[in-house]
Amino acid sequence: MKQDTLVIAVPKGRILGEALPIISAAGINPEPAFTDEGSRKLLFATNHPHISLIRVRSFDVATFVAFGGAQLGIAGNDVLVEFDYSEVYAPLDLGIGKCRLSIAQPKDLQGGLELGRLSHIRIATKYPNMTNRWFADRGIQAECIKLNGAMELAPTLGLCQRIVDLVSTGNTLKANGLVEVGTIAQVTSRLIVNRAALKVRPQEISGWIDKFRAVTERP
Ligand code: PRP
Repeated sequence: MKQDTLVIAVPKGRILGEALPIISAAGINPEPAFTDEGSRKLLFATNHPHISLIRVRSFDVATFVAFGGAQLGIAGNDVLVEFDYSEVYAPLDLGIGKCRLSIAQPKDLQGGLELGRLSHIRIATKYPNMTNRWFADRGIQAECIKLNGAMELAPTLGLCQRIVDLVSTGNTLKANGLVEVGTIAQVTSRLIVNRAALKVRPQEISGWIDKFRAVTERP
């Protein structure tokens, strides 16, 4: 890859559909394979010879940007807070990917989440850092079982009673007999930037931040 290529990391999955119109309104149009779910390509050309897009898991967007593999990216504040990479700067809330990071438990579990009565809790989650911190702030030690997906199965199969996971429509919780009993964070997606890249290529990268800002501020 050419040294002056600007790589933008975009999350695959449900945010992609919301991110694409913003990317396109900012003037970046990826090659057709980018929106082809069947394509095995991972690095995509755009209408700008010096800009490439990568399509990766949402957690990996932050990692690619933190380590400078991508200079720009789109990541939820759930991922940003969980990793807390010092090299990642998040200048702009894109207002997409709205959801919340919530605590849930089986609907037939006796009582709610009675924080005052707990000193220890076992939780299945993809977010052990945020979960530990939230419970520690309330004087509770959280023992996190790290899962990367299908958290909702954990209570059903007896790994633990509670989970911490993203909730959007609430359909996944409902379909698995779970109810929300607390919210740890509200989530939206941000435009993120590698700090070193911003120092080395300030005009170019600030120019793109401004273009994305103009798109999100459009009435
Ligand atoms: C997320 C999350 C829940 C679900 C919640 O998973 O982990 O499982 O969405 O959405 P809902 O409240 O609208 O039902 P996603 O489908 O993004 O896939 P993932 O498990 O690969 O993260």
